[in-house]
Amino acid sequence: MFDHLNAMPEDPILGLMAAYRKDPREQKIDLGAGVYQNEQGQTPVMRAVQKAEDRLIEQQSTKAYQGIAGDPDYNQRVLNLLLGEEHKTLADGRAVSMQTPGGSGALRIGAEVIRRANPDARLWVGIPTWPNHIPLLGSSGFQIEQYPYYNQNNHRVDFDSMLGALEQVPQGDMVLLHGCCHNPTGSDLNHEQWQQVTELALQRGFIPFIDIAYQGLGDGLDEDAWGLRLMASRLPELVIASSCSKNFGLYRERTGSTSFICSDAKQPSIVLSQAMSIARQTYSMPPAHGALIVSMILDDKTLRAEWKDEVDEVRQRIQAMRKLLTDGISNNATSQDFSHISQQKGMFSFLGISKEQLTRLREDFGIYIVDSTRMNLAGINSGNIDYLCESILKVLSV
Ligand SMILES: Cc1ncc(COP(=O)(O)O)c(C=O)c1O
Repeated sequence: MFDHLNAMPEDPILGLMAAYRKDPREQKIDLGAGVYQNEQGQTPVMRAVQKAEDRLIEQQSTKAYQGIAGDPDYNQRVLNLLLGEEHKTLADGRAVSMQTPGGSGALRIGAEVIRRANPDARLWVGIPTWPNHIPLLGSSGFQIEQYPYYNQNNHRVDFDSMLGALEQVPQGDMVLLHGCCHNPTGSDLNHEQWQQVTELALQRGFIPFIDIAYQGLGDGLDEDAWGLRLMASRLPELVIASSCSKNFGLYRERTGSTSFICSDAKQPSIVLSQAMSIARQTYSMPPAHGALIVSMILDDKTLRAEWKDEVDEVRQRIQAMRKLLTDGISNNATSQDFSHISQQKGMFSFLGISKEQLTRLREDFGIYIVDSTRMNLAGINSGNIDYLCESILKVLSV
């Protein structure tokens, strides 16, 4: 039976990572992989996570099944983290959350529930977006439509075009939005733009599907949820996919959640039962370990404060690297403007150079950046910033 299968093409980012690993040059730099790296180039276990994990291992008395919806405390605490504890939808009983295997699992569960609720709904995706959005969400059966999001020339959100496209979205369709730290552009909607999209959603009757995978890495834990909280307070319905991979550094523990804001207090339990039935039919139950760690951290005042400090450190380190890079290449042979890098948020920005220049960076200098020129700014540190800037300046001067 397997002779009929053809090998799938290699994931371009994984291919780039393999090439990086094989590269014998000492000064090589990896700006491709989408994980946080600290000043030492490592992706560390966060201190609060390590402490919670130690405590968990000491306290655990069973590995018995946990339940289809995961840990109920985790579900409530993640909802509080997303919406803020005082959010009216919580008091009104209109919100519910279900633990999922990572943010990817959260997106898929969200998509499957939406497809059950409205099989005719199309999904509008801003371009560019995280490369896995379209395969991950499209394979649940959605017809995918696109709206323009980013202007590659001025490196800003192309808001007029975005709004123009969203003005055509009919009632009941879904619109995918990035909650913060847009991947790959680093360009987020500002408050006024969130308000405009919210009002348009109300007027047209489309429903936002918000993917928030970097809460805390842009402006702060609460600040990064501003748009999401606004939408949750203004709109009758909302679907949110969130991930603890980046802000808790729990990548391999697969810790995420799908949250649903419903138009009345009767719906959340029905929607949850649908989400649970989808989980049961696919992976049955989410892994417990990461969610128990997150739940413990969010509930324990000291651990939570320590975790928040670490998230602040991560964010400030990335911001500092953004500034060093922008300053280091601002005086370049072609007078190209790179100021967008210091203004954008989160782990990613486009460098915005040509394909030939990108290839030279890789071949002549061992600097690995994906073909779209999306860089992971967390791959920069004080040990490689000078070499990075010198190399970019050399490539720009030819
Ligand atoms: C925008 C976006 N959404 C979702 C995810 C999925 O995260 P997870 O690793 O938790 O599945 C990522 C991961 O890179 C992402 O960048």
